[in-house]
Amino acid sequence: MNFFSPVLSVLIILSALTLRGETEDSMSIGSKFHFETSYDEQGLMGKDISSGEEIPLYKVYKGAKKIKLPGPAYAGKSIEETIRSRRSVRSFTGDSIRLDQLSQILLSADGITHSEGGLDMRAAPSGGALYPIDIYVVVRGATDIPQGIYHFQVSDSTLELVKAGDFTNALYDAAWDQEAIAEGQVNIILTSRFDRITEKYSDRGYRYAYIEAGAIAENICLQATSLGLGAVIMGAFTDTAVNAMLEIEGLREAALLIIPIGHPR
Ligand SMILES: Cc1cc2nc3c(=O)[nH]c(=O)nc-3n(C[C@H](O)[C@H](O)[C@H](O)COP(=O)(O)O)c2cc1C
Repeated sequence: MNFFSPVLSVLIILSALTLRGETEDSMSIGSKFHFETSYDEQGLMGKDISSGEEIPLYKVYKGAKKIKLPGPAYAGKSIEETIRSRRSVRSFTGDSIRLDQLSQILLSADGITHSEGGLDMRAAPSGGALYPIDIYVVVRGATDIPQGIYHFQVSDSTLELVKAGDFTNALYDAAWDQEAIAEGQVNIILTSRFDRITEKYSDRGYRYAYIEAGAIAENICLQATSLGLGAVIMGAFTDTAVNAMLEIEGLREAALLIIPIGHPR
């Protein structure tokens, strides 16, 4: 490593900020976040909060009623055709989603696909294979699945019942009355346990969690498209309301995206 390069990178960043008329204090929270979670040749630019403390790989709802998801069975359209035909779908019929369809979507989203060095790896890539993203499903209309909020238990491919009942209207209220949520027969919610990834990558782990959620969300949209279903990624919602619905505390663990799914109208 060149001795001058760390000094040089700081100078480059400082001159870029000066050109924009900004000091670190005057930066927006977004710029500051990106700045402090940048690496220079020495590592993280901002304060290092990595704890090294391991958080369990799988979140488990002990004693929850479980529904076993059938194994992957669908061999559908080509990836090229699926990517080309994907679009955000926001209007759905009232037809139910079948259990095998939901299973295929969840397994493609982030089910276990292979093992390496004794570790089970998943459908979407994950920084350091730490897998901070959890998947919840709010079920309104799905055959063989009673209405409720479920957690996708990746370790044994099951749905763990978090709470019974139809929470779709509450989710619709929490997501600024976006019709796609009310019409969605299932609504998938991606959450992140940030402390799973910041333990190793410090605040840079937030970037990795957001990126991973995007990869999982796209897996969901592509699999839904391939099955002839529709889906849309939604980032607009009242965070506290969605976190409260899932009974997660909202900072170390928080909701990131909602993805309504149904039969396109
Ligand atoms: C991070 C993210 C957040 C989004 N949030 C919303 C949202 O809250 N509501 C919505 O209707 N669409 C939302 N979208 C969908 C975009 O509006 C949509 O992808 C875009 O218009 C392009 O259309 P297409 O997906 O059909 O190609 C979001 C997309 C992304 C990637």
